[in-house]
Amino acid sequence: MLKKIFGKKNSSNKNAKTEEEILALIDRDRLPKHVAVIMDGNGRWASGQGMVRSAGHASGVKTLKTILRAAVDLKIEAFTVYAFSTENWKRPTAEVEFLMKLFADSLARELDEMDELGIRIKFIGRLDGFSPYLQEQFDNACRRTANNTGVKFNVAVNYGGQDEMLRVMQSLAKEVQAGNVAPDDIDVSMIEERLDTAGVSPVDLVIRTSGDMRLSNFLIWQTAYAELWFTDTNWPDFTKAEFYKALLDFSQRDRRFGGLSKKK
Ligand code: IPE
Ligand code: IPE
Ligand code: MG
Repeated sequence: MLKKIFGKKNSSNKNAKTEEEILALIDRDRLPKHVAVIMDGNGRWASGQGMVRSAGHASGVKTLKTILRAAVDLKIEAFTVYAFSTENWKRPTAEVEFLMKLFADSLARELDEMDELGIRIKFIGRLDGFSPYLQEQFDNACRRTANNTGVKFNVAVNYGGQDEMLRVMQSLAKEVQAGNVAPDDIDVSMIEERLDTAGVSPVDLVIRTSGDMRLSNFLIWQTAYAELWFTDTNWPDFTKAEFYKALLDFSQRDRRFGGLSKKK
């Protein structure tokens, strides 16, 4: 069945467009190179239907699979998702433990298929905060897909933008202390090559689901000039049609980067 958007579910809104119709409207030359997604609202989705929060996280993995596949089909260069923040340790132990197991199980289940799709998976964040088993799983997935040439799929875990900048600053401070570089010679490229996303282009589009309009410490350097797109839909309900809608909106924006519009 074709999915309808631009209207209430099951409404007979004549303006509703199908997934395929939205896709057809997108100028493929104006797609973002790097899409970053704050997959929010899993807990609210679950509570809203009387389920435990963890059920929302499990359902969110299915959404991620669908949207990642859409990114592969569209040949998006880089796709980064926020899976666990440096702040998320504040949650109840049972929820954190569930998430850790979900990361391990989902990775084990999906790795073969991601590899076949040519996806290059990388985990970004302070990885030493995880159990040795999980670190080994992350490392194994990264090494196994390193020579693939498809979508660069970054999964941010124990990730905080401020924590990433702190690690960059510590690394540069060590270089200065060792006498390898003078403070005045520190430049943007020296910062960017120390980021977790080194070698990946800056974020063009940030999508955040579930209605909150903030970055929550996600990719603060990389999103400096990103376009932002928000939806009230909770992540487990997010569809390919809505993803295409975000891309269509992005493709029609006038990105000026502080200069003047190229549009006449
Ligand atoms: C996002 O969903 C997933 C993680 C932070 C791990 P939430 O768990 O934040 O869901 P809400 O925002 O409480 O609904
Ligand atoms: C951001 O969502 C982190 C992830 C999606 C993993 P949160 O739910 O943790 O963000 P806040 O607390 O609403 O800012
Ligand atoms: Mg949340």
